[in-house]
Amino acid sequence: MTDTLDIKITKTSKSRLAETDFSNLVFGRTFSDHMLVADYSDGEWKNFEIVPYGEITVSPGISALHYGQSFFEGIKAYKHADGKVSIFRPDKNAQRFNKSAERLCMPTIPEDVFLQSLAAIVDVDRDWIPGAPGHSLYIRPFMFATDQYLGVAPSKTYKYIVLLCPVGPYFTKPLRVKIETHYTRSAEGGMGFAKSSGNYGGSMFPAKKATEEGFDQLIWTDAKEHKYIEEMGAANAMFVIDGTVVTPPALDTILDGVTRDTVIQLAHDFGVPVEERKVSVDELIETARNGKLNDAFGAGTAATIAPVGSIFANGEEYFLTAPENREFSQKVLKTLDAIRYGNAPDTHGWNYLVS
Ligand code: PLP
Ligand code: COI
Repeated sequence: MTDTLDIKITKTSKSRLAETDFSNLVFGRTFSDHMLVADYSDGEWKNFEIVPYGEITVSPGISALHYGQSFFEGIKAYKHADGKVSIFRPDKNAQRFNKSAERLCMPTIPEDVFLQSLAAIVDVDRDWIPGAPGHSLYIRPFMFATDQYLGVAPSKTYKYIVLLCPVGPYFTKPLRVKIETHYTRSAEGGMGFAKSSGNYGGSMFPAKKATEEGFDQLIWTDAKEHKYIEEMGAANAMFVIDGTVVTPPALDTILDGVTRDTVIQLAHDFGVPVEERKVSVDELIETARNGKLNDAFGAGTAATIAPVGSIFANGEEYFLTAPENREFSQKVLKTLDAIRYGNAPDTHGWNYLVS
C-alpha cells in the first residue's frame, strides 16, 4: 500500500451538469466535467491532477499515434439509494490494466494508485452518476505513449488519463449476432487478452461489414480453424447449454472479462454448473436446433448482460427463446443490479466504496 496519492485538483468554473440531458444518454458521447491526468517519465508516475475535461496537446510524432502503444479499461460506478457511491470490482481492472501494460512494454501502475485515482475523479464528479435503473458512470482509464520518436521501440514517456461518462444501456435490444469465420480478432501469441487499442481498430472493418448486413455484433472464432467460439466485439460470449453455463476459457486470445468472472461466481452461488471449455460453432448450431441452447448473452462492463436474440452461422439464422423467458440471464442481471446499486448484500466484496 502506497501513501495517499497526492492529486492536485482544479475545478471547472462552468459545470455542464445542468445542461446535460440524463434521459437521453448515448453511450460514450457525454463526458463529465473533469478528468484525471498523470505523466510517466524518468521511470516514475508523477503530476497526478484532476482538471476540467477538455482537449490535450500532444506532439504529432508520439508513438501511440503511429504504432498503437495504447490501451484502456472500462469500469462502472453506481449510485446507491442511500447516496453511497461504489465502483464495481476495480481491483480486477487494475490487474488487467497492468497485464495490458506489460504486453505493450508500457509501465504498470500500482493497484492502490490506480484505485485511488479512480476514487478521486469519481468523487469530484459524483453528481454525474445517473440514478435511473440500468444507468451508471462509465469510467475509462487509458494510457498511451508520448515519446516523439518514429523508430519502432517502446516509448520512455506516457500519459495516463481517466475519463468519465454518464451512461445508459450499451445495447437496447436483443442482439442479432453473426459468427465470423473469415476475419480474425486475435491469434495465439497475439494480444487478444490485452485491452489494447489496436485490437479494437482491427475489429472495425469486419464489424462494419456485419452491421451493413444487419447484425449487431460479431462472435469471433479461433484464428486457426474458425471452428471454436472466442468472444464478441465488446463482451465475452456466454451460453447455457442444457442447464450448464458454458463459456470459452479466458486464455491468451480473449479478454478475461470482469463481468464473465462475476457471472461464473454467481452461477456457483445459484448452484448452476459451469464449464469453461471450448465451444464449437457446430455444437452451438446443434444445440440451437435441438432446443438445448437455453440462453446466450454477451457479458461485459458496457454491455452488462446483453441477450443474444439470434445467431447467424453457416448461412442460417437460429432464433433463441425471448430474453424474458430465460431463467439464468434474468436472474444474473437482477442479482447483479441489486448488488451494484446497494440493494442486496455484497457478499463477495465487489463494491469498492468511494468515500
Ligand atoms: N471482450 C471484449 C473484446 C471487450 O471489449 C469487453 C469489454 O470490456 C469484454 C470482453 C468484457 O470485459 P469486462 O467484463 O471486463 O468489461
Ligand atoms: C467495456 O465494456 O468497457 C468495453 O470496453 C466495451 C467497449 C465500449 C469497447
